[in-house]
Amino acid sequence: MNTIKQEKYNSLLRAADKAKENSYSPYSDFKVGATILTKDGKRIDGCNVENAAYGSTMCAERAAIYKAVSLGYKPGDFEAIAIVSSGKNFSPCGACRQTIAEYEFKQSKNIEVFFTGETGNIVKANSLKDLLPFAFDNSLL
Ligand code: THU
Repeated sequence: MNTIKQEKYNSLLRAADKAKENSYSPYSDFKVGATILTKDGKRIDGCNVENAAYGSTMCAERAAIYKAVSLGYKPGDFEAIAIVSSGKNFSPCGACRQTIAEYEFKQSKNIEVFFTGETGNIVKANSLKDLLPFAFDNSLL
């Protein structure tokens, strides 16, 4: 990755790290922050929000995506998503991968996905497809 691109994504990870501090996670004590980079250069943050009825919990990645869509962003507008968690290591859950896939499959450009836990070992995927092989994609039906 060239230096300019590297800095762009490091700053996206820093934004996700900051968003993580808003996490409402009294049940798991596991904080997650996610920041989306849109084509128009905006950043949209989300964090995980837990609930006493555990199944009502929302992950940080989906919180960020649903916020972006609520603000009017559409397939075609998503460039990258960075995710940072507390705990040693992290990898996005299946539901969040499928949700990111919804937007990647319906736009011509891939969505880059970066994630890390506290060890700082950053995983970089150039495309959501690398994280969700054989994904369900209704445009192929
Ligand atoms: N969590 C996320 O925010 N993103 C993921 O991809 C996996 C899990 C949250 C949900 C819950 O609040 C906590 O992490 C523990 O599962």
